[in-house]
Parts: sequence; structure tokens; C-alpha cells
Amino acid sequence: MEYSVKSGHPEKQRIGCVVVAVYASRKLSPSAKIIDQASHGYISNLVRRGEMEGDLGNTLLLHNIDNTLCDRILLVGCGKEKEITTHIFNKINRIMVKKLNASGATEIASYLTEIPVRHKDRDLNWKIRQSITAIDEALYHFNQLKSEKQEPRRPLRKFIFSVSGRGQLMQGEIAVRQGMAISDGIHLAKDMGNLPANICTPTYLAKFANKLDTQHDHFKTTVLEEDDMEKLGMGALLSVSRGSREAGKLIVMEYSNGDEDQKPVVLVGKGVTFDSGGISLKPGASMDEMKYDMCGAASVFGTLSACAELQLPVNIIGIVPTVENMPDGIASKPGDIVTSMSGQSIEILNTDAEGRLILCDALTYAEKFEPDVVIDIATLTGACIVALGAHPAGLMSNHNPLANDLLSAGKRCGDRCWQLPLWDDYQEQLDSNFADMANIGGKGAGTITAACFLSRFTKKYRWAHLDIAGVAWKSGKEKGATGRPVSLLTQYILDRLEEWQSA
Ligand code: BES
Ligand code: MN
Ligand code: ZN
Repeated sequence: MEYSVKSGHPEKQRIGCVVVAVYASRKLSPSAKIIDQASHGYISNLVRRGEMEGDLGNTLLLHNIDNTLCDRILLVGCGKEKEITTHIFNKINRIMVKKLNASGATEIASYLTEIPVRHKDRDLNWKIRQSITAIDEALYHFNQLKSEKQEPRRPLRKFIFSVSGRGQLMQGEIAVRQGMAISDGIHLAKDMGNLPANICTPTYLAKFANKLDTQHDHFKTTVLEEDDMEKLGMGALLSVSRGSREAGKLIVMEYSNGDEDQKPVVLVGKGVTFDSGGISLKPGASMDEMKYDMCGAASVFGTLSACAELQLPVNIIGIVPTVENMPDGIASKPGDIVTSMSGQSIEILNTDAEGRLILCDALTYAEKFEPDVVIDIATLTGACIVALGAHPAGLMSNHNPLANDLLSAGKRCGDRCWQLPLWDDYQEQLDSNFADMANIGGKGAGTITAACFLSRFTKKYRWAHLDIAGVAWKSGKEKGATGRPVSLLTQYILDRLEEWQSA
């Protein structure tokens, strides 16, 4: 979709459809009022007759209204004017898209930028960005592998955000650029997640990283092969990869467009392209969904690509340890002991706790970049779904200011996380009789003990861990990757950029 901004009155738009808001109790938004006046009370008449109450989710499509230049007007009910939250704003956008898709209009001018959203920083920039990601979300389909693509006959082509005056055009255009870059990053992450594991292999991800390298300036991709990792002593990562015919990789993407002395933000994404559980084999039901076990990696790709697309003056490094977890004859067995790059030994009591095994070596590797902060993103534990469901990602950190930054970035963009404690009290659950630690923490607090495991490899820097097991994809009829937490991560980086620039 092509997005742009424009100022001007709604009745003067020569376009397929104009979208305006109506609030609960039949209250017209300013642009609905303007159209009402131009058309001698057409809208207020309808509203009085009860055709449109303005409740959240109501819509009414009107044609050929007197004294307007557009073919159609879509009234969108937004509920109580004072109660519109981020969540409701996104919902309004989704409802609008559904209706527009069925209307035949291909070019739209939307006045929903007028909607007041609760919270003081929900400004024009925020509304445009949020709308773009919500609209693209509603239009997303993964059609790549169907022989017959079901495209709508008259797809939406052009979407114009109305701004209240010429003075707002610049701000609006910046927001459009940001929104489209973030939305493209989300799209990239969704496609990558939805690809099946026979296509999306560690080798595929490495090739993808090389492609980003050629597409963007200030972007450098390096891929470590199993030999290289052997030399670095990455015994934990390699122990997972050994069970598969696919070669494991460590992908390193450096986007360096900030000050030379600005330490980088390092993002580490779990890239298990298929998690069968290994010798501790998973049950069969829904095992196909373990193709999504690389969604942490996908979010790193999506975030880097959004930042590079926007040419943000920042230094970000993406590290993606990527393997397939399979039960081969030389796969790790429960009880095996391996040595990580950090020198710490690990007793593998369950081969299905493989994410932490590949992450720990990637986290040790991250030290060499002298990071400002390190954030890892991983579909790490089923326990996280039990604890938090599908709404927030789980957040654990060894540095509270970093945790707070992530919490507030998530709130702002609607891609939220929620903090769980990372107290030392939990550490003893990882005790092993035979090695420095076990790879599972036994009964209770599975999400936290997984983070405790990782914390033993992140002592040298500020670190946060996002467990995205509950949010990275949807199951059931709407099965598909969500592209989360690309929004959260790019919002975090935009917030940090503001901080660096004002310093
Ligand atoms: N990738 C899974 C976690 C997962 C499971 C995410 C289901 C989303 C849905 C991870 O590798 C795993 O298998 N974790 C185990 C850890 C356990 C063996 C300590 C789990 O959560 O059961
Ligand atoms: Mn597993
Ligand atoms: Zn896994």
C-alpha cells in the first residue's frame, strides 16, 4: 500500500472514499460535521434516525453525498470519545480496513487522524505510525506457497492521512516513512516465521542476512560456520546442531551508522528453524508450530531492516544463532555434558531445552562488541504462555533501567512486555551433580529458570531477555506469525536515539 499525507477539507477530496469518525451517543467528529454542513445535514439526519450510533465497531458506507467530491464516505463508529486507548485505536483501524476492502474503493482519504487517543504522547506521528502497522496487519496474507493466489479484485492501493494544516505535513511525512519501515520489518518477520522449516533453514537465514548486506548501506553480514564455532569453543550451540543434517550457523549483522564512540545495541535472536525436541522428542500434536521457533531471529532481522531502511544514525548488531533441533544418531542424549564458549560446563538433562544452549554461546560471543546493552529475543519456554498467555512477552533483566525502557516502549507502540523477577533465589534450581549447571530448572517458574540460565552468560553487560513464546505466532484458525516484537524493538531504538541525540 502506498501511504501519504495531505491537508484539506473532507468534502473537497476527489477520491474513492473519505473516512470520518463518529463517536458514541451520535457525536460527530469535526470532519463529519464539515461534511454534514456541506450536505445540508445528511449525516445528522441519518444519525438521528438511528442508522449510526457511533458505537465501537459500527460502520456505515454512504454514496454520492451532495456537495462532496468523493465517491463514498465511510462513517466509522469509535465508541466513547474519551475512552479510546491504543488497543481501541488499532481495532478501529482494523474494522475500517475490513469495510474498505469490501467497498470497491481503491484510494482512501482518512480523517481518523483526528481521533483523540488517551495518553499525552499519542500525537500525530504516533497515530500515523500506529495506523500503518494496523492497516498492513489487517491486509496481510501469506500466499507465497499457494498455487492459486486469492488476491482481492480491487485491492486498496493508496491511503492518504489527512492532517489539520500545511504546518503538519512535514511531521506527517516523517511518520509515514517510519510507519512504513516498521511495517515492512514486521512483514519481513511474519513471512520468515510462516515459511516452513524445509525452506527456512539455517542456510536460508544466512542467505537472507547476506541479502540485507547488499541491500543496505552501513550493513555488514558475517556468517560463522560450524568449523569457526568449533574454534571458538561453542560446545553448547554445536551440541544442538549435531542432531540435524542441516548445518548450524552463527549469523552476525552489523548496522553501523551511528557515532563511532557510541556503543552498539546488540540484539540476539533464537533461530531454531525447527524444534522437534531432539531425543527428548516433543509430542506430535501441533508439532508443526515448532517451525516458529526462529521467530526471535525473525524479529532481529525485521528490526535491523527497519532501522537500515530509515537510515537511523545508530549502531545495532544482530546476532542469530541458528540450528535445527533433531533426534539423529549422534544427537545429544539426556545426561550428556558439554562445555560452552564461556568455559562453563552444562549437563543436558532435556534436549528440548535447546534454545538456551544456542543462546548462551551467542551471548558470550556478544561480549566482543563491548555492547551498550544486549537484548535477546526467544521463543524460549512453554511456561511463559502459562504465565502470561498471548498478550505480553515475558521480560527479565539484570538492569532495571533497561527493563523500564522496554516496558515503556512496549506500552507506547502496543507491543507490550511484562516483567518477571530474576531473583537469585531461583538459581539453585539449576544445580547439577555433574556439571557447573543443568540445562533445566525442574518444577516451577520455568520461564524464570530459563532466564537464570542465560544470566550466567551475561554478567559482563546490561542485558534483557524477552520470552516471546506466547506472542510470536497465533495458533488455530488464524495460525500465523505476528511479527512481534519488531514494533517494540524499533520503538526502543527510536526512543534511545532521541536520548542520544539530546545528550
Ligand atoms: N521452543 C520451545 C518453547 C515453546 C514451546 C515455545 C511451545 C512455544 C510453544 C523450547 O525449546 C522448549 O521446548 N522449551 C521447553 C523447556 C523445558 C524442557 C524445560 C518447554 O517449554 O517445555
Ligand atoms: Mn525445545
Ligand atoms: Zn525451542
